[in-house]
Amino acid sequence: MLAALALGACDKSPEPAQTHEAVASGSDVAPLDRNLDPAQIARGLAVYKQHCVECHGVAGTGLPGDWRVRDAEGKYPPPPLDDSAHVWHHPTTVLLEAIRDGSPQGEGNMPAWKGRLSEQEMQDVVAYIKSLWSDQVYRLWLKMEQQSREF
Ligand code: HEC
Repeated sequence: MLAALALGACDKSPEPAQTHEAVASGSDVAPLDRNLDPAQIARGLAVYKQHCVECHGVAGTGLPGDWRVRDAEGKYPPPPLDDSAHVWHHPTTVLLEAIRDGSPQGEGNMPAWKGRLSEQEMQDVVAYIKSLWSDQVYRLWLKMEQQSREF
C-alpha cells in the first residue's frame, strides 16, 4: 500500500533542469561516504542483468522513448533507474516494496518479484541501483531517506 501511494504520488512531469544544476554547483561539500558494499553491488548487477535490463535498460538508463507518456493501454513505460528519472525520490523501503509488489494494479507493467527473488537479492539490486546515481543526487536521496526514518 505504501508503495502504491508513493509510486502514484511520483509525478511524471519533467524534472526542472535547474534542480540538478543547482545541486551540481555545490563544490564545497564534504566527500561522500555512501557506505555501499562493492560485493553487494556486484551481486545486484548480476540480478539486474538477468531480470531488469530488458525493461530498465543498460545501467538503468531506460529504453528509447519517453517514460513519462502512457502507452496505448494507458500504462506508463518502465522509467530509467539511474538519476535521470524519479527513482531516487523514494526511500529504500518504498523501492523494495516497488520491486516486491510490482506496479500498483493496472498502472503499469512492473512485475512483482516476491517469490521470484529473495529479500537478499532485492536488497542487492537496490544497492546496485543506488550505485548508478551521482554523488549530488545521492546526497539529496540520503536527506530524504533520513527524513523518512523520522516518522
Ligand atoms: C516487464 C518490464 C519490467 C521488468 C522486467 C522490470 N521492471 Fe521495474 N518497472 C517497470 C515499469 C513499467 C515500471 C513503472 C511502474 C508504474 O508506473 O507503475 C517499473 C518501475 C520500477 C521501479 C519504480 C521506479 C520509480 O521511479 O518509482 C523500480 C524501483 C523498479 N521498476 C525496479 C525493477 C527491478 C529491480 C527489476 C528487476 C528485478 C525490474 N524493475 C524489472 C517494468 C519492468
